[in-house]
Amino acid sequence: MNTELPELGEHPEGWTRKHLLEIEELSREELEIILEKAQVFRDAFDAGRRKFSFLSGKTAVTLFFENSTRTRTSFTLAAQRLGASCVAFNASTSSLSKGETVIDTAKNLEAMGCEIMIVRHSTPGIPQLLCQNVNCAIVNAGDGPHEHPTQGLLDILTMRQRLGTLEGKTVAMVGDIQFSRTARSNIWGLQKLGANVIVCGPSTLVSREWEKMGVEVSYSLDAILPRVDVLNLLRIQFERQYTRPFPSVREYAFLYGMNGERLRRAKPEILILAPGPINRGVEVTPDVADGPQSAILDQVSNGLAVRMAVLWLAGHGRG
Ligand code: CP
Repeated sequence: MNTELPELGEHPEGWTRKHLLEIEELSREELEIILEKAQVFRDAFDAGRRKFSFLSGKTAVTLFFENSTRTRTSFTLAAQRLGASCVAFNASTSSLSKGETVIDTAKNLEAMGCEIMIVRHSTPGIPQLLCQNVNCAIVNAGDGPHEHPTQGLLDILTMRQRLGTLEGKTVAMVGDIQFSRTARSNIWGLQKLGANVIVCGPSTLVSREWEKMGVEVSYSLDAILPRVDVLNLLRIQFERQYTRPFPSVREYAFLYGMNGERLRRAKPEILILAPGPINRGVEVTPDVADGPQSAILDQVSNGLAVRMAVLWLAGHGRG
């Protein structure tokens, strides 16, 4: 039995993965395992218990080729609080500028004893590529518009804490769906847990193709608002777009921004989420972002718990 944090129990029989690459490939049972372990770490965090030795002697590296505040910091804290050493690879000052490849970079870090690689890259599939080239446990921290599995997990954990079961609940994601890895991870996870998902935004950012994933597509926030239990407000990712997807930011905010006036037309208990970073006054106004319905900063705390659970599982991987 685990004496340090008995609530964690033994390494779960149902978890046989070495890597965490995407939510799409996870079974409902595997999702439940991560969420259950994350809740244990969240409860420990709330009780002031922040230092463990489960990964003592292990070394993790945050291999980020894209900027990050929340994901990188919380993975670093998660690794440290589990007792691992954690080093940061800085792409902008690395030897990538001298022509070294991503694979060679990872092989060199592995040669220095890194055992867990937490990877963010603008190209979809880079974490999968690294799995085939190094023996480390690979954790996807966001690969282009493909998936951001720990973001999906922390969103879902936050919803379950507030709503209980997600079975039959309606979750709408509003904004830049087309370029959103968060949207894809949420859709896979939410559907496995029985929620109804709506994606909503301008037609340039939400195509009818999404219906093939079994979600409802809407172009009117006002039309869907009265029946939504959770509203997840996604940032417009201008960095991934070649042309402007709408005439002006003001116009976008008028049609799709969540504000106090819209909140009055929503269900009284509606839960407001945003993966961050938020652009105040664009996808959400400050009164809503900082208001009682918002769980935006709670998502951040849950992110740390989810990442502790993911690293705990990765550190015991059997693959
Ligand atoms: N939500 C999220 O991934 O934030 P960062 O880009 O700051 O990590």
